[in-house]
Amino acid sequence: MNLGRRLRESIEGAKALNICSFRLAARNPSLLRNYISVTLQKYDELMEIGLPVKNPLRDFAAHDFDTLSVPLLFQTGGGTDPREILTLAAVTKLCKPARIFEIGTFNGRTTAVFILNSPSNCEVFTLDLPPDGGDLAHHLPTDVALVQDRQPEAYLRRAGLAGRYRQIYCDSMTFDPEPFGNSVELGFIDGAHAEEFVRNDTLKMAVMMSPRGFVFWHDYGGKGSFRPLSKYLESLPIELYRVPATSLAWTTASEMKKLVPPAGPTRLEVQSQRLSA
Ligand SMILES: C[S@@+](CC[C@H](N)C(=O)[O-])C[C@H]1O[C@@H](n2cnc3c(N)ncnc32)[C@H](O)[C@@H]1O
Repeated sequence: MNLGRRLRESIEGAKALNICSFRLAARNPSLLRNYISVTLQKYDELMEIGLPVKNPLRDFAAHDFDTLSVPLLFQTGGGTDPREILTLAAVTKLCKPARIFEIGTFNGRTTAVFILNSPSNCEVFTLDLPPDGGDLAHHLPTDVALVQDRQPEAYLRRAGLAGRYRQIYCDSMTFDPEPFGNSVELGFIDGAHAEEFVRNDTLKMAVMMSPRGFVFWHDYGGKGSFRPLSKYLESLPIELYRVPATSLAWTTASEMKKLVPPAGPTRLEVQSQRLSA
């Protein structure tokens, strides 16, 4: 990490120092980082710094007897906490998507949430690096441990969900979104967290989105190495929100489509236009 970034992070972290943080550091220094990150994230939310807060469930009509299905054991790593899992489950249940596309399977826990709460004829796709793609991890600026620790498909097989989804093994940087163009009604972006990957995954998701539905990103609002992800999302020229008390950011499919450049003539068409002029 370069010196400038380390300095910026230390100054940022100093905002959350208080008596509790010193006590925590005295008890177990490794907990301090987590405390500072959670505290600053909550501070930004309450001070209305960054994306505005909006609950994606607000405009849906739900009954108090509606139910959700979530895996009982949350401990499969991957970072999504119970509130995030419940939000994704509820959006899936209420949005009733015909097609879901997730970038970043890890062990398949969020994939399971999508499968369990979507209509039985919904197509669920989840993309991750090939199982033997661990070598690629060394070239990633973030997420090296996640790529190496994952056990793709094992969890979903144990959960009896093997036939309910399609696993795509591909580096998202080389993935071609065109065959999925305008068809996805619920998108989840939780692959590599470095800015170039989030930009790539966001623009490809925009191509894949149908005009209806929602897109969610995980790890919005994080500090340290996740800060560029937040800055990138805040820089997008569309309406984007954060889900209260989570690290989920979201937008509607119609906003997302604004990121797709209008289709111009192909190079071949331009050439033939020139020839016929
Ligand atoms: C945070 S985990 C996803 C967690 C999962 N959504 C959950 O909560 O259960 C990120 C995943 O993205 C994958 N990943 C990282 N870089 C990638 C890339 N370039 N293309 C595809 N997947 C990538 C990693 O292998 C890892 O499994």
